[in-house]
Parts: sequence; structure tokens; C-alpha cells
Amino acid sequence: MRILGIETSCDDTSVALVRDGGSVESVVISSQVKAHRPYGGVVPELAARMHTEAIHYLLPKCLEKAGVSWSDIDRIAVTTTPGLEAALLIGVVVAKTLGMMLKCPVVPVNHIWGHIYSVFMDTDAPPAFPFVALVVSGGHTQLWSVTGHYQFELLGQTRDDAVGEAFDKVARQLGLGYPGGPPVEQRAALGDPKRYPLPRPLRDSPFEFSFSGLKTAVMQLVNGLGTVDDHQITDICASFQAAVIDTLIEKSSAALRHTGASTLCIVGGVAANRTLLQTASARLNGVRVVAPPIHYCTDNAAMIATAAQYFPITNQTTLSELRVGMVNM
Ligand code: KG4
Ligand code: ZN
Repeated sequence: MRILGIETSCDDTSVALVRDGGSVESVVISSQVKAHRPYGGVVPELAARMHTEAIHYLLPKCLEKAGVSWSDIDRIAVTTTPGLEAALLIGVVVAKTLGMMLKCPVVPVNHIWGHIYSVFMDTDAPPAFPFVALVVSGGHTQLWSVTGHYQFELLGQTRDDAVGEAFDKVARQLGLGYPGGPPVEQRAALGDPKRYPLPRPLRDSPFEFSFSGLKTAVMQLVNGLGTVDDHQITDICASFQAAVIDTLIEKSSAALRHTGASTLCIVGGVAANRTLLQTASARLNGVRVVAPPIHYCTDNAAMIATAAQYFPITNQTTLSELRVGMVNM
């Protein structure tokens, strides 16, 4: 089984070919980060226009890289939700057109579940069910109970900011650039995490998150200090990251206890934070902590194609039914 994956939900255009449950043949990505940077966020119209331009050269490039021809494709997978409507539409229209031309099924994929399926990519040791999935990205912070393929239950999510967004805003406040996760992690490794006591938010609600209070606490700390020197910036990064990691691990631990699972999968852009993974492994006794390699943590079409490999094709969606916002279970 060879699946062509298409991902256009936000600011990365990506196309991938995946075989037999997660073996990645090729993945190509065009990032729009630089184009949106002057606006301080993703501009939906611009994103859609750039996806339209990128997808046409990425498709042949992806096939060429794998040495695969159009007739070798068995299924197409496309992200249908969640994401920017105008951006998702580009991927959906391209997938439907290809499905019609190649006469093959098109599977709608939930982007979040795509992130969860990233732990099945290019690995000899995929996680066993049941497991808890901690989805941490620039747009989402969620805990899921996963008891089998396409057996997902949302346990809780953030009430306000996503954890990646908090990293980005703190980095911006400290003048560390965008995206903020990597520079904050690098600084944090050199700093004192106990120097500035910061809140561990929403302790009484086991599976829900809130990061806007923590972000505000960092802003107040920085404003209160006046000018911050290099040493202080490093200690603020360490203190902030410690508060985030404590919170993520505490809530994941509660989810593991609640579900009885002994595997925790950490996925999404913030799973690129190796300090988070190492701390989780060290603190959660008897728990296997699984995360994809760094290059599969951020948005890519290979995870979308992988998710479609496990989708029961008996529930097949017809091309006329397929639309943005559709969720398949
Ligand atoms: O999953 P992703 O590529 O895009 C979304 O779907 O949002 O995640 C991007 C987020 C950004 O907020 C970025 O700062 C964060 O992932 N990130 C990190 C690290 N690398 C990327 N956060 C913490 N530590 C990192 N090393
Ligand atoms: Zn994502």
C-alpha cells in the first residue's frame, strides 16, 4: 500500500509518499514562515496563495525523489481539519482532482491525529495500545486516550494559549526571535530553573491546561526587572521551561493513571524539545515515552499519509462527500 499525503492546513505546504504502515519514501516541505513574519502571524489569504504556488512543484518533486510514478499510488490522504479554511481548501481541491484522475480513494485526515500517527513513522518499535498522546504544538495542547487505531478520546486541552505559542511569546518578549522554542530550550539548558519562581497553572484540573497566566507572569517579571542582562535572560528561559515541563508531565501522569496506559507519546512541534522528553522519561517510572524524530515533530505530509494507512477503507468517503472540516472515524 502506497499513500500520497497532502498537508496544507497552516503555513507549511507538504507532500509525502508513505508505504506499508509508516515507511516514508519521500517527504517534501515548503515553509512560509518568512513570508508571514512581517505580519506577526499567519495571514490566511497569503497562506492559501502560497500553497497554490508550492503544491504544483512539490508534487512532481516528491514522486521524482522516490522514483515513483502516478500509477503507483494506491490512496491519497489529505488534511481536512483543523486549520485555516482557505489553506485547507487548496489541499482538498488538489486531492479530489488527483483522486478523480488516478481513480483512487481519497482519505480525509484530522491534522491532530496525523501528529499522533507520527510515532508510527520509520520505526521498528511503534507504541503498543493503549497509550496516552500529549499533542503539543504552536496551535494545540491536548491529551488524548488512544486505545486502538482510530480509537481516540480527547481527555482535555488548553483553555487559552497553546504551549508552543507560550514559548513563542516569551521568546519575543526576550528578543530571541521566532519560532521561540529552539532558542528558549538552548538558553534554558544553561540557566538556573529555580531563580525565578513561576506558577504551575491549573493544578486542580487534571487534564486541562492554561498557559496565558504563565506567559503574563513572565512578562510581569521582565517588566519588573527593567533591563534584563544576558544572564537573567538565560535564567528566565530556564525558569519558564521548568514551569512548562512540570505542568505537561504532571497532567500526562494524571492521564496515564486515569487510563491505565503505560506508554506516553509526545507529538507536535514542542516534542522537538528534547529536555521535555528526557525529563518525562526520567520522572515517569515504568512509562515508555515515545516521540518522533525532530524532523517529524513539526507539520509534514508523511504523518497525514501514515494516519491514512490505518484508516478502515470500508468507511470510504466518496469524492463528492469529501470537504474541508470533515472528520473520519
Ligand atoms: O507543530 P508545529 O510545527 O506547528 C503547529 O501546528 O503549530 O509547532 C510549532 C511550535 C512553535 O510554537 C515552536 O516554537 C515550537 O513548536 N517548538 C518548540 C521547539 N521546537 C519547536 N518548542 C519548545 N522547544 C523546542 N525545541
Ligand atoms: Zn501541526
